[in-house]
Amino acid sequence: MRISQCRQEDLELLDQHLPFRGAAAQYEARYARQREGRATVLVAWRERRPVGSCEVRWEGCEAPEVRAAHPGCPEVNGLSVWPEALRSTGVGTALIREAERLAAERGARAIGLGVEKNNPRASALYGRLGYRASVPYLDCWSYQDGAGVAHRVADACVFMVKPL
Ligand SMILES: CC(C)(COP(=O)(O)OP(=O)(O)OC[C@H]1O[C@@H](n2cnc3c(N)ncnc32)[C@H](O)[C@@H]1OP(=O)(O)O)[C@@H](O)C(=O)NCCC(=O)NCCS
Repeated sequence: MRISQCRQEDLELLDQHLPFRGAAAQYEARYARQREGRATVLVAWRERRPVGSCEVRWEGCEAPEVRAAHPGCPEVNGLSVWPEALRSTGVGTALIREAERLAAERGARAIGLGVEKNNPRASALYGRLGYRASVPYLDCWSYQDGAGVAHRVADACVFMVKPL
């Protein structure tokens, strides 16, 4: 497996292989933040196929309560591995480790990530990697369904932090 920073020409392949609706628009937005220097989008590859990704947001988590508690703490956002058959084979861990390496290289003293309160398997993984639960918050986001109707969602999450 190889991990690299997302390039413009990767966006089409990501769109082909990502299983969820709205992925193309989401990756365009992530890539735009990377171009502005606000984020780094990491992609994990098996052969020539993208099998996972995450966005390291250098400005940190959007939730005000998290920013207040951890000012300047970069966030690993949108971590995902697919297809499901490839989960639990080390891809997520490799993406997190690369995000940590990049954050340390930039002089960050800690890195964090948000996890939904009802995702105990992901929390367990982050705990094993050294992340500790810190701030409960609501992750507010929106998406458009196939009919073009906008939906707003608020997920109950916990921000977990690891010193670097
Ligand atoms: C969570 C996730 C990113 C971890 O990546 P991964 O490549 O599967 O993780 P690794 O192989 O490095 O580590 C394995 C651990 O990940 C966790 N994990 C595995 N599958 C998972 C799943 N479907 N959902 C949540 N956590 C999962 C478990 O703790 C697992 O340990 P175990 O095999 O001993 O139970 C990935 O499983 C995934 O995309 N899950 C669905 C989406 C999700 O929950 N994203 C997390 C957002 S915070």
